[in-house]
Amino acid sequence: MSRMRRILDPEPVEHLADHVRGGGGRALDAAVRVDAGALLDTVTDSGLRGRGGAAFPTGRKWSTIAGARQGSSIPVVVNAAEGEPGTFKDRTLLRRNPFRVLEGACIAARAVGADSVIVGIKASFVHEIDRVTRAIDEITAAGWADGLTVSVVSGPGEYLFGEETAMLEVIDGRPPFPRVVAPYRRGVKPDVRDLRPQRDSVVALVDNVETLANVPGIILNGASWFRSVGTHDSPGTIICTVTGDTQGAGVGEYAMGTPLREVLDELGGGPEAGTTITAVLPGVSSPPLPGSMVDTPLTYEHFAAAGAGLGSAGFIVVGSETPIRAVAAGVARFLSVESCGQCVPCKRDGLAIAATLRASGDRNAIDDGLSTVTRGARCALAGQTERVVGGLLRLADSIGEPNGAVEPYPVVPMVDLVGDRAAFDTSHLDKRSDWTTVGETPDSNEWPVERLADQPVEVGVVHVAEADVDEGAVAEQPEIDMFAPVHELDAALERQIGRVRTAPSDRVHAELGVLRDQLERHRRVSERLLYPLLERLEPEIGDDVAWYPERREAHAARLAERLDLGTIPVTPHLLDELCADIHVSVMELDQRVLPLLAGLLADDADEVRLIAGDVVEELTDQP
Ligand SMILES: Cc1cc2nc3c(=O)[nH]c(=O)nc-3n(C[C@H](O)[C@H](O)[C@H](O)COP(=O)(O)O)c2cc1C
Ligand code: SF4
Repeated sequence: MSRMRRILDPEPVEHLADHVRGGGGRALDAAVRVDAGALLDTVTDSGLRGRGGAAFPTGRKWSTIAGARQGSSIPVVVNAAEGEPGTFKDRTLLRRNPFRVLEGACIAARAVGADSVIVGIKASFVHEIDRVTRAIDEITAAGWADGLTVSVVSGPGEYLFGEETAMLEVIDGRPPFPRVVAPYRRGVKPDVRDLRPQRDSVVALVDNVETLANVPGIILNGASWFRSVGTHDSPGTIICTVTGDTQGAGVGEYAMGTPLREVLDELGGGPEAGTTITAVLPGVSSPPLPGSMVDTPLTYEHFAAAGAGLGSAGFIVVGSETPIRAVAAGVARFLSVESCGQCVPCKRDGLAIAATLRASGDRNAIDDGLSTVTRGARCALAGQTERVVGGLLRLADSIGEPNGAVEPYPVVPMVDLVGDRAAFDTSHLDKRSDWTTVGETPDSNEWPVERLADQPVEVGVVHVAEADVDEGAVAEQPEIDMFAPVHELDAALERQIGRVRTAPSDRVHAELGVLRDQLERHRRVSERLLYPLLERLEPEIGDDVAWYPERREAHAARLAERLDLGTIPVTPHLLDELCADIHVSVMELDQRVLPLLAGLLADDADEVRLIAGDVVEELTDQP
């Protein structure tokens, strides 16, 4: 049996004490007793390769960073942005055991001489953010993070947020536009609470969630233990996700070298009834593996020899009822929408390829686009278009699939996995190439780099736990927060979301009732305070928040309707969706509308603060 349980716990590990009971913490204990060089050697000897998709040797990366930092304080960035279609392994790991990932990050910090750990995660991953922030509190209280500042930075939903240099940009408060230089050349500014752009930056270590989850086992049990499964070039285990044209979906940990078919059968239950597998697509980063090769062992070298790649081991199964060209059109759509447009051929040719696949399938035009799309590309996304779309079309040709216009297969990120059912972000199908959404805002007809270049990104430092607090630095708060009373209401709402999530089943409805009252208070704050302020600012305010009242009212009505559950049983999935929806609404207010209003009303800060205080107080007193 090749299924393993080295890093993917079978059940959620709720508290640090549970993690410790299962052997957690011993690796960190061992790590503080040896010098950094020994840690670097062990990780290098283990042969661990990054699980974020590029498979770069982790020990080599750590040693480069340790050498490049030249005494300056640097962060370890945990890449938890997981946006690759077909992949859900990092969120599964964080849901099951965030302590293991944080333990790995703390060990990495000791190995490279970092003084902070920053978890970069999408703001929409509400459940995972909650798990991670609570875990940070527990490890900080237990002294695991001594000497380290551990924080969570929540960022935008864009695929590029997961690209490592784009993630550093977001942490610095800018949109997720990849940089030219790698993280071992340029990192982030040291203080993650100060989101203003800074010129000075040092290096940073960015590692994937799964990569870091492997570290405690390696440090505790040694490099040869890690190598006791897998092959020389692909040692250890890998966490796979299976979705697509299968009976079901799933996430599981397998020894490297396991035949792919075994994984597809176990996690996906095999192909849909009456179909066969034509191809397996490892996300949107590597070319497809033909259906005739599903016995290929799960290793980097075997997949490369088969003309494919392991990527982040998110396998989208394409069955015989799905045209391969439709999948190519879906991949081209996804990648061209997500392209930022800093490199003209990537965005221009990517969009043209997607449009042609949909409209006519004209092979000459598509091949032209594929031959130029990577020109001058800063990041790997353009190469993904070339490799994955090109590979799919070659496979379609080889099996004699007819050419012509196709409706794109929905290639979109996953949002959840409940039992063996995957849930997908189908709203992505309405995402435009300027990163706005149909029906929400007008089409700017610009590329993201033009539309967002001067705008600060919607990024939140949702949590900071500090071992060594520099009181002077933290206390320096020169600006008046005119919306402090509203922020307090928001914080209370977020706390209530936490209570709803953790309530025993007989209390859930009661806690939801409290949540409903708080939401109504929120709606009235908008009505009494924010909308009048918006009106007062017209007409200069422009389109930036003109949409807000209408959208917020519609959202409030929808939430009230969804919260009206009567005695309907509340499933964890329903709860997740509901809490995510509320969280996103609060974030929109806190990070988009209030900062904009604060900027526009800066001259009247004292007055606004007084009015805000009065309104909130009055509403709080009301039943
Ligand atoms: C467009 C794009 C999206 C990416 N998204 C992710 C992601 O969501 N998570 C991740 O860990 N790596 C992602 N990567 C890879 C990262 O850039 C980087 O290689 C990885 O975080 C390094 O960590 P590792 O060495 O532990 O794999 C992405 C790369 C590209 C080009
Ligand atoms: S290659 Fe594409 S996604 Fe990457 S930086 Fe250039 S335009 Fe943006």
